[in-house]
Amino acid sequence: MLSSKQISEYRDRGYLILKNLLEKDEFVKIEKAIEDIEEMDGPEFYREKDSRKVRTIFAPEKFHDAIQELVDNEKIRGIIGQLINSEFYLFQSKLNSKASLQSGVWSWHQDFKFWREDGMLQPDALTLAIFLTDVDISNGPILAIPGSQKYGEVESFLNNPDGVHDENLKYLIKQETLAKMVDEFEPITPLLGKAGDAVIFSSNILHGSYQNMGIVDRKLLMFTFNPTHNIKEVENPRPEYMVKTDKRVLNLQS
Ligand code: SIN
Ligand code: MN
Repeated sequence: MLSSKQISEYRDRGYLILKNLLEKDEFVKIEKAIEDIEEMDGPEFYREKDSRKVRTIFAPEKFHDAIQELVDNEKIRGIIGQLINSEFYLFQSKLNSKASLQSGVWSWHQDFKFWREDGMLQPDALTLAIFLTDVDISNGPILAIPGSQKYGEVESFLNNPDGVHDENLKYLIKQETLAKMVDEFEPITPLLGKAGDAVIFSSNILHGSYQNMGIVDRKLLMFTFNPTHNIKEVENPRPEYMVKTDKRVLNLQS
């Protein structure tokens, strides 16, 4: 469970690093499951434009029980319940990979900007990203501006109207907006850790990531949890594997 210091740190900085979230045996099981899933294919699989290496696999729990067990993991559900003070469910899940020297970028963005178009009402969702490999400054860590989740929606412009999970993001921000956020909040900070660690981050924190210039493929297994009341139906929903409609409550019974 999280300490009150960790909870305040999350509220203040918009992210929280969790050391050793997974035990060694749990980690090995997940690592093996991901290796198996990476051999598969389907509409859930998004690849890098040039190298065709896996960039994102949506809903990986559909492909392997070990991943579903993580969604049901009581330690994880307990931690998320400490940060979301209401009933919550799994809104989105994905494996985000960055192959060494053969992967692209994630430009600066706030997740809520995109998820609002999926019917999310308030920026109250959060994402747990489990590090399946060591993540250091060489292999494309998530970069974030601590505290920027407090700002609300930053100014952005429509860049690629048809961009659905495209490297060329639908909305981008200008350099002056980034500079203003760094000036108002804190310097750009890489979210680093070892395999088995994790980071939880707010759906409104300003973040992105650059290419993998290192030798280790970077892999993040990401689960986004949303309060069950924080969603409405939209006219043209994205596929179920991207935005889940099953709002099974994951809170631990108290
Ligand atoms: C990344 O995989 O580096 C970025 C993921 C995100 O923007 O949520
Ligand atoms: Mn994001």
